[in-house]
Amino acid sequence: MLKKFLPKTLFLRYFLIILTPIIILQILLSVVFFDSLWIKTNKGLVNSLTEEINTVISFYNRKKNYVEFENVRSLISTNSSFQIILKKDSTLPKENNYQKFSFYDRLINEQLKERIKLQYWFNTRSDKDNVEIQVKVKNDILSFIIPKSRIRNSSGRIFILWITVPGIILLLISVLFLRNQIRPITNLALSAEKFGKGQYVAPNKPSGPIEIRKATIEFEKMKARILRHISQRTTMLSGISHDLKTPLTRLKLQIEILNKDRKLDGIKEDINEMEKMISEYLDYSNSESNTENTKFNLNKLLVEVVKKFNNDKINLKSEDNLQMVGKKHLLRRCFSNLIDNGTKYAENISITAYKNKRQLEILFDDDGPGIPESEHERVMRPFYKLDKSRNLKDGSVGLGLSIVQDIINSHGGKVMLENKKKGLRVKLQFPS
Ligand SMILES: Nc1ncnc2c1ncn2[C@@H]1O[C@H](COP(=O)(O)OP(=O)(O)OP(=O)(O)O)[C@@H](O)[C@H]1O
Ligand SMILES: [Mg+2]
Repeated sequence: MLKKFLPKTLFLRYFLIILTPIIILQILLSVVFFDSLWIKTNKGLVNSLTEEINTVISFYNRKKNYVEFENVRSLISTNSSFQIILKKDSTLPKENNYQKFSFYDRLINEQLKERIKLQYWFNTRSDKDNVEIQVKVKNDILSFIIPKSRIRNSSGRIFILWITVPGIILLLISVLFLRNQIRPITNLALSAEKFGKGQYVAPNKPSGPIEIRKATIEFEKMKARILRHISQRTTMLSGISHDLKTPLTRLKLQIEILNKDRKLDGIKEDINEMEKMISEYLDYSNSESNTENTKFNLNKLLVEVVKKFNNDKINLKSEDNLQMVGKKHLLRRCFSNLIDNGTKYAENISITAYKNKRQLEILFDDDGPGIPESEHERVMRPFYKLDKSRNLKDGSVGLGLSIVQDIINSHGGKVMLENKKKGLRVKLQFPS
């Protein structure tokens, strides 16, 4: 249940591990601070004020005349921080404008109610610096103007500032460190994913904590082993294919001699097909072996390939200055294969190449029958053809798309097949 709400990435999980105790600690500290310090000191301050007010009231009640009280009033005004104003024959303001939700107003109200046994009224809002408390004594009103600083502990805001600002700074620092710690494992995961898809993966430098370094080193070893294995297999297959050519030629010759009444035409066709498969494969494995990355103009390469087909049904739209780094002769072969398919299985072909923020894309659209969704994965396999009888005569062997896939993968790109309303779209995507 809880798992559903937990963040999915390693970074966010670690961040949560750091964030939770900090927040809990801050809440605890704040609660303790407010309860034991802020409330208690404020109560104490208001209490001592009520004692002074009560003293003034008692004196007012026992005064012989107003002159006597006036003397005391001026004495208090000069020696104490608060002022007293006497309003004779007056009443308390009707509106009680203290706010129920203000923590501070509630506290003053509680204390006054408890300690002053007369009718009172107070206002904390109308004056920024002072609180006014009025008490009704007989027919008169005694109004006390008290500076807020006398009855209010001002350390609350500073405390909140002190508790949140360092908290935020600590979090920022930990995010910086965390990112650096997480990066090697993210890179490793990305590399493993790419390698699994058969794409080119640049060697990873071991970095970060020792466990991740170890995993990176072991991944690199495993990658080298698999690559060596693949290259051994390719060399072996090329060797076998090459050696098969001689007996095939011999077979062909013998059939030519025996095939007087054209009864062996079927066998002859099969042998021709086998020969084609072998030479296609050899052709590809040879061109793959001498590979160097170069920087070139993609638009020029596309124009060059299209020109070779000499077909005015091929329409090319490409940005002029599309720079690309890769193996030019392999890409030429890849584009040729796709255009070749287009001319074989459709009529009109349109090629679009463009670069957006994140990647370079080349689209090959045609108006042929397309490939059913269920076959998209299979047509990428070597020697796989959709309609065997259709292609037998035109010399197709079914290697075209698998070579395209191989070449694009080795450039770190992706091949995607999409069916349009009419026709097929082959989308090549390269990281730019
Ligand atoms: N543009 C397309 N429209 C419709 N079907 C296609 C298209 N491209 C490929 N196919 C189908 O996918 C199959 C595999 O294509 P692929 O290019 O690998 O082989 P091929 O064209 O038959 O032979 P090769 O390319 O080796 O001469 C083809 O046999 C064809 O049926
Ligand atoms: Mg083809």
